[in-house]
Amino acid sequence: MANLNQQWRLIARPTDEAGREHFRITEEPIPEPGPGEVLVRNIYLFVPPSMRLWMNEKDSYFPAQVLGEVMMGITLGVVEKSNVPGLEPGTYVNGMGGWQQWSVAPGAALQPLAPHPGVPLELYRTVLDVQGLTAFVGVMDVCKPQPGETVVVTAAAGSVGSLACQLAKTTGARVIGVAGGPEKCRWLVEECGVDGAIDYRAGDVGKRLDELAPKGIDSVFENVGGPVMDLILDRINDRARIALCGLVSSYNTGGTQSTMSLMQLVNRAAVMQGFLCKDYLHRYGDMLATMQPMVLAGTLKYHVDILEGGLESTLEAMHRISTGANQGPQLVKLGPV
Ligand SMILES: NC(=O)c1ccc[n+]([C@@H]2O[C@H](COP(=O)([O-])OP(=O)(O)OC[C@H]3O[C@@H](n4cnc5c(N)ncnc54)[C@H](OP(=O)(O)O)[C@@H]3O)[C@@H](O)[C@H]2O)c1
Repeated sequence: MANLNQQWRLIARPTDEAGREHFRITEEPIPEPGPGEVLVRNIYLFVPPSMRLWMNEKDSYFPAQVLGEVMMGITLGVVEKSNVPGLEPGTYVNGMGGWQQWSVAPGAALQPLAPHPGVPLELYRTVLDVQGLTAFVGVMDVCKPQPGETVVVTAAAGSVGSLACQLAKTTGARVIGVAGGPEKCRWLVEECGVDGAIDYRAGDVGKRLDELAPKGIDSVFENVGGPVMDLILDRINDRARIALCGLVSSYNTGGTQSTMSLMQLVNRAAVMQGFLCKDYLHRYGDMLATMQPMVLAGTLKYHVDILEGGLESTLEAMHRISTGANQGPQLVKLGPV
Protein backbone atom coordinates (compact mmCIF):
# COMPACT_ATOMS: atom_id res chain seq x y z
CA MET A 1 0.00 0.00 0.00
CA ALA A 2 1.45 3.38 -1.02
CA ASN A 3 1.79 5.39 2.17
CA LEU A 4 0.53 8.75 0.93
CA ASN A 5 -2.96 9.82 -0.09
CA GLN A 6 -3.00 12.16 -3.09
CA GLN A 7 -5.89 14.64 -3.04
CA TRP A 8 -7.17 17.36 -5.37
CA ARG A 9 -8.59 20.43 -3.60
CA LEU A 10 -10.68 23.10 -5.31
CA ILE A 11 -9.06 26.47 -4.62
CA ALA A 12 -10.84 28.72 -7.18
CA ARG A 13 -14.25 28.59 -8.82
CA PRO A 14 -14.17 28.17 -12.62
CA THR A 15 -16.32 30.48 -14.74
CA ASP A 16 -16.09 28.24 -17.81
CA GLU A 17 -14.45 24.80 -18.04
CA ALA A 18 -12.54 23.65 -14.96
CA GLY A 19 -8.75 23.69 -15.37
CA ARG A 20 -5.61 22.74 -13.49
CA GLU A 21 -5.36 26.31 -12.13
CA HIS A 22 -8.51 25.78 -10.05
CA PHE A 23 -6.93 23.00 -7.97
CA ARG A 24 -4.14 22.37 -5.50
CA ILE A 25 -2.74 18.84 -5.19
CA THR A 26 -1.86 17.71 -1.68
CA GLU A 27 -0.35 14.50 -0.34
CA GLU A 28 -1.21 13.43 3.19
CA PRO A 29 -0.69 10.25 5.23
CA ILE A 30 -3.38 7.65 4.61
CA PRO A 31 -6.01 8.33 7.30
CA GLU A 32 -6.94 5.88 10.06
CA PRO A 33 -10.62 5.02 10.54
CA GLY A 34 -12.13 6.01 13.89
CA PRO A 35 -14.93 4.23 15.77
CA GLY A 36 -17.82 3.46 13.40
CA GLU A 37 -15.69 4.29 10.37
CA VAL A 38 -13.96 2.42 7.56
CA LEU A 39 -10.94 3.17 5.39
CA VAL A 40 -11.69 2.80 1.68
CA ARG A 41 -9.21 2.54 -1.18
CA ASN A 42 -10.96 4.31 -4.04
CA ILE A 43 -10.91 2.38 -7.34
CA TYR A 44 -13.20 4.38 -9.63
CA LEU A 45 -14.16 8.05 -9.59
CA PHE A 46 -17.34 8.73 -11.56
CA VAL A 47 -17.35 12.05 -13.43
CA PRO A 48 -20.92 13.18 -14.18
CA PRO A 49 -21.66 16.24 -16.35
CA SER A 50 -23.18 18.01 -13.33
CA MET A 51 -19.88 17.81 -11.42
CA ARG A 52 -19.02 21.16 -12.98
CA LEU A 53 -22.05 22.69 -11.17
CA TRP A 54 -20.73 21.52 -7.77
CA MET A 55 -17.79 23.92 -8.23
CA ASN A 56 -20.04 27.01 -8.38
CA GLU A 57 -20.66 29.27 -5.40
CA LYS A 58 -24.35 28.52 -5.62
CA ASP A 59 -25.64 25.20 -4.24
CA SER A 60 -26.74 22.62 -6.82
CA TYR A 61 -28.47 19.42 -5.70
CA PHE A 62 -25.39 19.18 -3.45
CA PRO A 63 -24.20 22.04 -1.22
CA ALA A 64 -21.56 24.09 -3.05
CA GLN A 65 -18.03 22.67 -2.84
CA VAL A 66 -16.08 24.37 -0.03
CA LEU A 67 -12.88 26.00 -1.34
CA GLY A 68 -9.70 24.43 0.00
CA GLU A 69 -11.41 21.10 0.75
CA VAL A 70 -10.92 17.87 -1.20
CA MET A 71 -13.17 18.05 -4.26
CA MET A 72 -16.40 16.07 -3.82
CA GLY A 73 -16.57 12.92 -5.89
CA ILE A 74 -18.70 9.83 -6.41
CA THR A 75 -16.57 6.73 -5.96
CA LEU A 76 -16.48 2.94 -5.91
CA GLY A 77 -13.82 1.47 -3.66
CA VAL A 78 -12.84 -1.43 -1.51
CA VAL A 79 -12.76 -1.53 2.29
CA GLU A 80 -9.18 -1.88 3.55
CA LYS A 81 -9.68 -1.35 7.32
CA SER A 82 -12.95 -1.44 9.18
CA ASN A 83 -14.41 -0.57 12.57
CA VAL A 84 -17.92 -1.42 11.32
CA PRO A 85 -19.33 -4.96 11.65
CA GLY A 86 -20.67 -6.12 8.27
CA LEU A 87 -18.27 -3.96 6.27
CA GLU A 88 -15.36 -6.34 6.31
CA PRO A 89 -12.07 -5.64 4.48
CA GLY A 90 -12.46 -6.70 0.86
CA THR A 91 -16.06 -5.46 0.59
CA TYR A 92 -16.71 -3.28 -2.44
CA VAL A 93 -18.60 -0.10 -1.55
CA ASN A 94 -20.11 2.94 -3.27
CA GLY A 95 -19.63 6.26 -1.55
CA MET A 96 -18.65 9.89 -1.85
CA GLY A 97 -14.91 9.37 -1.51
CA GLY A 98 -13.91 12.55 -3.35
CA TRP A 99 -10.98 13.30 -5.65
CA GLN A 100 -8.50 11.28 -3.59
CA GLN A 101 -7.00 7.82 -3.49
CA TRP A 102 -8.11 6.93 0.03
CA SER A 103 -11.05 8.06 2.14
CA VAL A 104 -12.48 7.45 5.57
CA ALA A 105 -16.25 7.34 5.94
CA PRO A 106 -18.83 6.35 8.54
CA GLY A 107 -20.26 2.93 7.73
CA ALA A 108 -23.73 4.43 7.21
CA ALA A 109 -22.42 6.65 4.40
CA LEU A 110 -21.37 3.65 2.30
CA GLN A 111 -23.42 1.30 0.16
CA PRO A 112 -21.99 -2.25 0.22
CA LEU A 113 -22.11 -3.95 -3.18
CA ALA A 114 -22.76 -7.57 -4.06
CA PRO A 115 -21.30 -7.82 -7.55
CA HIS A 116 -22.88 -10.59 -9.61
CA PRO A 117 -20.34 -12.98 -11.17
CA GLY A 118 -20.10 -12.08 -14.84
CA VAL A 119 -21.03 -8.42 -14.37
CA PRO A 120 -18.02 -6.07 -14.65
CA LEU A 121 -17.39 -4.25 -11.36
CA GLU A 122 -17.50 -0.80 -12.96
CA LEU A 123 -21.17 -1.29 -13.89
CA TYR A 124 -22.08 -1.01 -10.20
CA ARG A 125 -20.99 2.64 -10.25
CA THR A 126 -22.51 3.37 -13.68
CA VAL A 127 -25.09 1.41 -15.66
CA LEU A 128 -26.46 -0.39 -12.58
CA ASP A 129 -26.17 2.67 -10.35
CA VAL A 130 -26.79 6.37 -11.03
CA GLN A 131 -27.37 6.07 -14.77
CA GLY A 132 -29.58 3.00 -14.54
CA LEU A 133 -31.65 4.39 -11.69
CA THR A 134 -32.01 7.78 -13.37
CA ALA A 135 -33.09 6.25 -16.66
CA PHE A 136 -35.39 3.76 -14.92
CA VAL A 137 -37.32 6.24 -12.78
CA GLY A 138 -37.30 8.94 -15.48
CA VAL A 139 -38.95 6.56 -17.92
CA MET A 140 -41.13 4.41 -15.66
CA ASP A 141 -42.18 6.93 -12.99
CA VAL A 142 -42.15 10.26 -14.85
CA CYS A 143 -42.53 9.71 -18.62
CA LYS A 144 -44.80 6.66 -18.13
CA PRO A 145 -44.93 5.80 -21.85
CA GLN A 146 -47.90 3.85 -23.17
CA PRO A 147 -47.67 1.34 -26.05
CA GLY A 148 -47.73 3.18 -29.38
CA GLU A 149 -46.87 6.58 -27.89
CA THR A 150 -43.87 8.55 -29.14
CA VAL A 151 -41.02 9.30 -26.72
CA VAL A 152 -38.10 11.61 -27.54
CA VAL A 153 -34.85 11.28 -25.61
CA THR A 154 -32.05 13.89 -25.82
CA ALA A 155 -28.33 13.20 -25.27
CA ALA A 156 -29.73 9.83 -26.34
CA ALA A 157 -26.40 8.14 -26.93
CA GLY A 158 -25.15 9.30 -23.53
CA SER A 159 -24.98 7.24 -20.38
CA VAL A 160 -28.46 7.98 -19.10
CA GLY A 161 -30.06 8.64 -22.47
CA SER A 162 -29.09 5.33 -24.07
CA LEU A 163 -30.51 3.39 -21.13
CA ALA A 164 -33.66 5.55 -21.15
CA CYS A 165 -34.13 4.76 -24.86
CA GLN A 166 -33.88 1.02 -24.27
CA LEU A 167 -36.14 1.05 -21.21
CA ALA A 168 -38.73 3.13 -23.09
CA LYS A 169 -38.65 0.55 -25.90
CA THR A 170 -39.60 -2.19 -23.42
CA THR A 171 -42.91 -0.37 -22.81
CA GLY A 172 -43.96 -0.65 -26.47
CA ALA A 173 -43.49 3.05 -27.19
CA ARG A 174 -41.86 4.47 -30.36
CA VAL A 175 -38.55 5.98 -29.35
CA ILE A 176 -36.63 8.75 -31.10
CA GLY A 177 -33.16 9.69 -29.91
CA VAL A 178 -31.39 13.01 -30.46
CA ALA A 179 -27.59 12.82 -30.40
CA GLY A 180 -24.47 14.47 -31.79
CA GLY A 181 -22.92 12.85 -34.85
CA PRO A 182 -23.69 10.03 -37.31
CA GLU A 183 -21.86 7.30 -35.39
CA LYS A 184 -23.89 7.93 -32.21
CA CYS A 185 -27.08 7.89 -34.30
CA ARG A 186 -26.08 4.66 -36.04
CA TRP A 187 -25.38 3.00 -32.67
CA LEU A 188 -28.78 4.09 -31.33
CA VAL A 189 -30.71 2.67 -34.29
CA GLU A 190 -28.69 -0.42 -35.16
CA GLU A 191 -27.66 -1.58 -31.70
CA CYS A 192 -29.96 0.02 -29.12
CA GLY A 193 -33.04 -0.52 -31.30
CA VAL A 194 -34.53 2.98 -31.28
CA ASP A 195 -37.03 3.74 -34.04
CA GLY A 196 -35.24 6.83 -35.29
CA ALA A 197 -32.25 9.02 -34.43
CA ILE A 198 -31.61 12.70 -35.15
CA ASP A 199 -28.13 14.13 -35.44
CA TYR A 200 -28.66 17.63 -34.02
CA ARG A 201 -25.26 18.74 -35.32
CA ALA A 202 -26.31 17.96 -38.90
CA GLY A 203 -28.94 20.65 -39.00
CA ASP A 204 -32.68 20.75 -39.35
CA VAL A 205 -33.87 19.12 -36.12
CA GLY A 206 -37.41 20.49 -36.48
CA LYS A 207 -37.85 18.93 -39.93
CA ARG A 208 -36.45 15.59 -38.74
CA LEU A 209 -38.80 15.61 -35.73
CA ASP A 210 -41.74 16.20 -38.07
CA GLU A 211 -40.64 13.27 -40.23
CA LEU A 212 -40.05 10.86 -37.35
CA ALA A 213 -42.93 11.95 -35.10
CA PRO A 214 -45.71 12.91 -37.52
CA LYS A 215 -48.38 12.46 -34.81
CA GLY A 216 -46.51 14.61 -32.30
CA ILE A 217 -44.58 13.78 -29.13
CA ASP A 218 -46.22 12.26 -26.05
CA SER A 219 -43.27 12.17 -23.73
CA VAL A 220 -39.78 13.65 -23.50
CA PHE A 221 -36.74 12.51 -21.52
CA GLU A 222 -34.83 15.79 -21.50
CA ASN A 223 -31.11 15.84 -20.79
CA VAL A 224 -29.86 18.86 -22.73
CA GLY A 225 -32.10 21.97 -22.90
CA GLY A 226 -31.50 24.96 -25.17
CA PRO A 227 -32.74 25.35 -28.76
CA VAL A 228 -33.30 21.63 -29.38
CA MET A 229 -35.57 21.44 -26.34
CA ASP A 230 -37.52 24.41 -27.74
CA LEU A 231 -38.05 22.51 -31.01
CA ILE A 232 -39.20 19.40 -29.15
CA LEU A 233 -41.63 21.29 -26.89
CA ASP A 234 -43.07 22.91 -29.99
CA ARG A 235 -44.26 19.46 -31.09
CA ILE A 236 -45.71 17.95 -27.88
CA ASN A 237 -49.21 16.51 -27.75
CA ASP A 238 -51.93 17.26 -25.20
CA ARG A 239 -51.03 16.12 -21.69
CA ALA A 240 -47.46 15.26 -22.68
CA ARG A 241 -45.07 14.31 -19.86
CA ILE A 242 -41.61 15.83 -19.85
CA ALA A 243 -39.05 14.30 -17.49
CA LEU A 244 -36.50 17.03 -16.86
CA CYS A 245 -33.42 15.02 -16.09
CA GLY A 246 -30.76 17.66 -16.80
CA LEU A 247 -29.77 20.61 -18.98
CA VAL A 248 -26.22 19.72 -19.93
CA SER A 249 -25.96 22.40 -22.63
CA SER A 250 -26.01 25.07 -19.91
CA TYR A 251 -23.53 23.68 -17.37
CA ASN A 252 -20.34 25.42 -18.45
CA THR A 253 -21.61 28.85 -19.36
CA GLY A 254 -25.31 29.07 -18.44
CA GLY A 255 -28.13 28.99 -21.00
CA THR A 256 -31.48 30.35 -22.14
CA GLN A 257 -34.84 28.80 -22.90
CA SER A 258 -37.53 30.30 -25.10
CA THR A 259 -40.58 31.53 -23.19
CA MET A 260 -42.77 30.61 -26.16
CA SER A 261 -41.67 26.98 -26.03
CA LEU A 262 -42.50 26.89 -22.31
CA MET A 263 -45.93 28.32 -23.22
CA GLN A 264 -46.43 24.99 -24.96
CA LEU A 265 -46.75 23.44 -21.49
CA VAL A 266 -49.81 25.66 -21.02
CA ASN A 267 -51.16 25.14 -24.54
CA ARG A 268 -50.92 21.36 -24.22
CA ALA A 269 -51.71 21.06 -20.50
CA ALA A 270 -48.41 19.22 -20.30
CA VAL A 271 -46.49 18.28 -17.18
CA MET A 272 -42.78 18.98 -16.89
CA GLN A 273 -41.23 17.34 -13.85
CA GLY A 274 -37.68 17.72 -12.64
CA PHE A 275 -36.46 14.67 -10.76
CA LEU A 276 -33.35 13.52 -8.94
CA CYS A 277 -32.34 9.88 -8.82
CA LYS A 278 -31.22 10.33 -5.19
CA ASP A 279 -34.92 10.74 -4.25
CA TYR A 280 -35.67 7.33 -5.74
CA LEU A 281 -33.27 5.09 -3.83
CA HIS A 282 -36.31 3.02 -2.83
CA ARG A 283 -36.51 2.03 -6.55
CA TYR A 284 -32.90 0.76 -6.67
CA GLY A 285 -33.96 -2.89 -6.14
CA ASP A 286 -36.58 -2.64 -8.91
CA MET A 287 -34.02 -1.10 -11.25
CA LEU A 288 -31.49 -3.85 -10.48
CA ALA A 289 -34.11 -6.57 -10.90
CA THR A 290 -34.99 -5.17 -14.34
CA MET A 291 -31.59 -4.20 -15.69
CA GLN A 292 -29.09 -6.69 -14.25
CA PRO A 293 -30.76 -9.59 -16.14
CA MET A 294 -30.59 -7.47 -19.32
CA VAL A 295 -26.85 -7.03 -18.73
CA LEU A 296 -26.34 -10.75 -18.09
CA ALA A 297 -28.36 -11.67 -21.18
CA GLY A 298 -26.40 -9.21 -23.31
CA THR A 299 -29.58 -7.44 -24.42
CA LEU A 300 -28.76 -4.09 -22.80
CA LYS A 301 -26.34 -2.06 -24.93
CA TYR A 302 -24.02 0.31 -23.13
CA HIS A 303 -20.55 1.80 -23.12
CA VAL A 304 -18.45 2.64 -20.08
CA ASP A 305 -15.63 5.09 -20.72
CA ILE A 306 -12.67 4.54 -18.37
CA LEU A 307 -9.60 6.79 -18.26
CA GLU A 308 -6.73 4.90 -16.70
CA GLY A 309 -4.53 7.84 -15.73
CA GLY A 310 -5.54 8.31 -12.09
CA LEU A 311 -6.59 11.65 -10.58
CA GLU A 312 -4.48 13.45 -13.19
CA SER A 313 -7.08 12.36 -15.81
CA THR A 314 -10.09 13.89 -14.09
CA LEU A 315 -9.96 17.24 -15.86
CA GLU A 316 -9.60 15.46 -19.20
CA ALA A 317 -12.65 13.40 -18.21
CA MET A 318 -14.64 16.60 -17.56
CA HIS A 319 -13.54 18.01 -20.91
CA ARG A 320 -14.58 14.83 -22.71
CA ILE A 321 -18.07 15.08 -21.25
CA SER A 322 -18.55 18.72 -22.15
CA THR A 323 -17.47 18.07 -25.75
CA GLY A 324 -19.43 14.84 -26.15
CA ALA A 325 -16.21 12.85 -26.67
CA ASN A 326 -17.09 10.35 -23.93
CA GLN A 327 -18.72 7.07 -24.85
CA GLY A 328 -20.96 6.23 -21.94
CA PRO A 329 -20.51 7.14 -18.29
CA GLN A 330 -17.09 8.60 -17.65
CA LEU A 331 -14.97 6.92 -14.99
CA VAL A 332 -11.43 7.64 -13.89
CA LYS A 333 -9.56 4.60 -12.60
CA LEU A 334 -7.70 5.47 -9.40
CA GLY A 335 -6.26 2.07 -8.55
CA PRO A 336 -6.41 -1.68 -9.21
CA VAL A 337 -9.68 -3.60 -8.72
N1 LIG B 1 -31.67 14.05 -12.50
C1 LIG B 1 -30.75 13.19 -12.09
O1 LIG B 1 -30.83 12.60 -11.01
C2 LIG B 1 -29.58 12.94 -12.99
C3 LIG B 1 -28.67 11.91 -12.73
C4 LIG B 1 -27.63 11.68 -13.65
C5 LIG B 1 -27.52 12.50 -14.77
N2 LIG B 1 -28.40 13.51 -14.95
C6 LIG B 1 -28.33 14.38 -16.14
O2 LIG B 1 -28.53 13.56 -17.27
C7 LIG B 1 -27.97 14.22 -18.40
C8 LIG B 1 -27.14 13.23 -19.17
O3 LIG B 1 -26.09 12.79 -18.32
P1 LIG B 1 -25.20 11.57 -18.74
O4 LIG B 1 -24.52 11.10 -17.51
O5 LIG B 1 -25.97 10.61 -19.55
O6 LIG B 1 -24.18 12.29 -19.71
P2 LIG B 1 -22.92 11.70 -20.46
O7 LIG B 1 -23.11 10.34 -21.00
O8 LIG B 1 -21.72 11.93 -19.63
O9 LIG B 1 -22.75 12.66 -21.69
C9 LIG B 1 -23.37 13.83 -21.81
C10 LIG B 1 -23.71 14.01 -23.27
O10 LIG B 1 -24.43 15.22 -23.37
C11 LIG B 1 -24.18 15.77 -24.63
N3 LIG B 1 -23.79 17.17 -24.47
C12 LIG B 1 -22.77 17.65 -23.73
N4 LIG B 1 -22.69 18.98 -23.86
C13 LIG B 1 -23.69 19.33 -24.70
C14 LIG B 1 -24.12 20.55 -25.22
N5 LIG B 1 -23.52 21.71 -24.90
N6 LIG B 1 -25.19 20.56 -26.04
C15 LIG B 1 -25.80 19.40 -26.36
N7 LIG B 1 -25.42 18.21 -25.89
C16 LIG B 1 -24.38 18.17 -25.07
C17 LIG B 1 -23.06 14.99 -25.30
O11 LIG B 1 -23.62 14.10 -26.24
P3 LIG B 1 -23.81 14.52 -27.78
O12 LIG B 1 -22.49 14.32 -28.44
O13 LIG B 1 -24.86 13.59 -28.24
O14 LIG B 1 -24.20 15.94 -27.77
C18 LIG B 1 -22.48 14.20 -24.15
O15 LIG B 1 -21.93 12.97 -24.58
C19 LIG B 1 -27.19 15.41 -17.87
O16 LIG B 1 -27.98 16.56 -18.03
C20 LIG B 1 -27.03 15.09 -16.40
O17 LIG B 1 -26.86 16.24 -15.61
C21 LIG B 1 -29.41 13.73 -14.09
